[in-house]
Amino acid sequence: MKFDVLTLFPDMFECLNQSIIGRAKEKELIDINLINIRDFSNNKHKKVDDTPYGGGSGMVMMPDVVYRAYESVKTKDAKVIYMTPQGKKLDQKKVEDLAKQNHLIILCGHYEGIDQRVLDKIVDEEVSIGDYVLTGGELAAAVMADAIVRIIPGVISDEQSALSDSFQDNLLAAPVYTRPADYKGWKVPDILLSGHEAKIKEWELQQSLERTRKLRPDLLGE
Ligand code: ADE
Repeated sequence: MKFDVLTLFPDMFECLNQSIIGRAKEKELIDINLINIRDFSNNKHKKVDDTPYGGGSGMVMMPDVVYRAYESVKTKDAKVIYMTPQGKKLDQKKVEDLAKQNHLIILCGHYEGIDQRVLDKIVDEEVSIGDYVLTGGELAAAVMADAIVRIIPGVISDEQSALSDSFQDNLLAAPVYTRPADYKGWKVPDILLSGHEAKIKEWELQQSLERTRKLRPDLLGE
């Protein structure tokens, strides 16, 4: 899967070179290409924004610069996503839908936003990561890319399976424990030490259900 990220701050995506996502890149399971929108400014000072028509505070990213950046990566089957608090809220279902795409172009705005004309022409979908406002779309794009990449086949081993994680089947994940079995008298539940696989699975499902009912009853439609 290919990601082209259009941004004024490519360094903000350094986090995607770490850990599981970093390894997925090394294994070439994904390709994340960072495009600096500033490189597409024709201005000798590399200007990318201007004051808003009609007045008001802040600066607006200019349509021509953003459009040229888009043209440099566009393909026929690419889906263009604009990160914005006014978009549809990201959830695991949306992540699964997006993971089916071959090519995502993720557009990150900064300052007051991007000239609406270019958004109207190129954006297929607007996505928000939650009801709060960030300084730009970069952190939101990194969150979304992380969530998508981790469910791409081969990125997480079957054993660790992304399938046992929270939100699979609309349930939160069961609690997890590791050695030592007794730390300061705080004991790991006996069932997990029993070696009885079927009973352990049953216990985990029970825990998931209890946790979901307690913490996120909305996921169960309650
Ligand atoms: N840009 C600024 N805030 C955002 C949010 N909550 N989600 C996506 N993009 C954003």
